[in-house]
Formats: sequence, C-alpha cells, structure tokens
Amino acid sequence: MRNYYIAGNWKMHKTRAEAADLAAALVARLKDGKHKYLVAPGFTLLETVAPIIKGSNILLGAQNCAPEEQGAHTGETSVLQLKDLGVQVVILGHSERRHVYKEDDALINKKVKLALRQGLDVILCIGELLEEREEGRAEQVCETQTVKGLEGVQADDLSRVTLAYEPVWAIGTGKTATPEDADAIHAYVRGVIRKLYGESAAQRIIIQYGGSVKADNAAQLMAKENIDGALVGGAALKADSFVPIAKFS
Ligand code: PGA
Repeated sequence: MRNYYIAGNWKMHKTRAEAADLAAALVARLKDGKHKYLVAPGFTLLETVAPIIKGSNILLGAQNCAPEEQGAHTGETSVLQLKDLGVQVVILGHSERRHVYKEDDALINKKVKLALRQGLDVILCIGELLEEREEGRAEQVCETQTVKGLEGVQADDLSRVTLAYEPVWAIGTGKTATPEDADAIHAYVRGVIRKLYGESAAQRIIIQYGGSVKADNAAQLMAKENIDGALVGGAALKADSFVPIAKFS
C-alpha cells in the first residue's frame, strides 16, 4: 500500500520569525497525523526551521538545488550545503523553475541525479501548460518530463523519488483539475513508470497532485486510486489551512 504524502511548498514567503511560528504550529498539530509530511521553506529559512521540526514526523525539504556540487556558481545553492542544514528532500522541476526560470529537462535531470547521489530524496514535478492541455498534449508532456527527468536514475534509487503532477494552469489560480482529470494523468504517468521500471515500481511510486489543493477538495482528490498525496502551495502558508489538508480523511 502507498502511504499518503502531503508536502507544503512555502515558495518565496515568510521571514524567519514567521517560518518558526508556522513550523512550531505544524509540529504540534500534526504530531498525531497519519500520513507522511514535508515542509519546504525558502533557503534562508532552512536553518531556522530545521531544529523546530527535528524529531517530529515532518521532513525538511528544499525548493531547488544547483546542478553541480560546488564551485563558481554565483547565486546557486549546493546539495552539500542543503544536507549540512539537515535537508532530507529536494523539490525539483517545479513549474515556476521550468517556466519562469527556464529550466529544461536536461538541467532538471542533472539535479535529480546529483540529489539522489548525495542521498537526498527528490520530489520531481511535472505538468502541462494550459495550451498543451487544450491541444490534447497533456499526457505526452507529462511523459516526456517524466522520462527525461528520470533518465539514468537506477531502479534502486527510484524508491527515493516522488512525482508531483502539477498542471501549470491550476497552480495558484484557484482552478483545480477535477479529481477525474487528475487521476487520469496520474494513471498514465504510473504507466510510464511501469514501462521504465516494471510493475512493482509503478505500484510503489507516490504521485502527488498539486495545484490549488485546499481543505475542501483534498479528500476528493485523494480518494482517487492514483492520487497518493498533495504538493500544496498557497494553502501551506498557514497552519489553519494546511493542517486540514494534511489530516484529510
Ligand atoms: P498552489 O501551488 O497550491 O498555490 O496552487 C502548488 C505548487 O506550486 O506546488
């Protein structure tokens, strides 16, 4: 059985004091939660949040990393620096990285392999633009992003990869994919994993849905056979909106 995995992506929000308050509230309110949890604060907040969630049932995630371990890369953050702060998971290929900062599949794949090699878990985000959906290409786009994002990733390491299907048109827009539409893409992507890694890997891989997940749609989404969790943006910024998602039943 796959465990539900609920992740909060704080994006470029919060000061250290605000992050500490939110992290402490989540530790207190999720301690009896039954699912797997993660928060991904911005880089400057990681050192503040790490000791607060240490020993709790909440993992520490980063929102990106550099494609190289170290060197002359002004403005980038290394996996080694993230590990040093206690980061356990890195989100890669988020649509804001792909479309605003023009990261392509080859760059994302380099980051995926580096993070795995350095012992971090990965949440690899995939998802189509609105025009790609309207042209009937959603499945193809998600397949390409999955195949290229995982190129060279060995079967043994796949257990440390979570996929997050985030249709770009649903992120931060208040528009959510219907549970049926999301489940159809999740099933398709699970099929892609089956082709690449076989049946048992396909059954095991966690595929989160992301894009305007809220307390009032989380349970319907999660009820779908192929939706194994959520990557939450806006609603992850307050304990009052994140906790009901994290504790959906
Ligand atoms: P949202 O963001 O929940 O605000 O739509 C999701 C994400 O970008 O991960």
